[in-house]
Amino acid sequence: MFMKKQITIINGPNLNLLGKRDPEIYGSETLELILGRMQERFPDVELTLKQSNHEGDLIDWLQQAKAEDGVILNAGALSHTSYAIRDAIEAIQLPVIEVHLSNIAARESFREKSLLSPVCRGAITGLGGEGYLLALQYLAGVE
Ligand code: DQA
Repeated sequence: MFMKKQITIINGPNLNLLGKRDPEIYGSETLELILGRMQERFPDVELTLKQSNHEGDLIDWLQQAKAEDGVILNAGALSHTSYAIRDAIEAIQLPVIEVHLSNIAARESFREKSLLSPVCRGAITGLGGEGYLLALQYLAGVE
């Protein structure tokens, strides 16, 4: 029987403002528009979009994703500060792809380092909304 892959897209603080927030840095697309493009391109994958401004929600969702096929994670500024999210990624043993819309290596020095990258399968940064699609392309192909 054909089982649809299940992938959760988890977004952290301030990403609910996407489309309105610093469009010259983050682009003008909302998360919902990006999701629409993802679903169009990969109709056979079941996608769940989540966003919260609260660190604990991201940790709960990572833990709940354990039964799924992978996670696309943009933890926003928590990427630079949260050992707790890092531990959650390590604990669930799922392929997690870190995505950043902006190129975090080319901005303020506090953004240069992501605490999450070492425990993620990979990271895509600086390609705008396209980064989410590329992460999905990868996860959709993982056996
Ligand atoms: C971001 C980069 C972070 O440094 C920032 O705090 C964000 C968005 C990005 O997608 O480029 O909120 O994760």
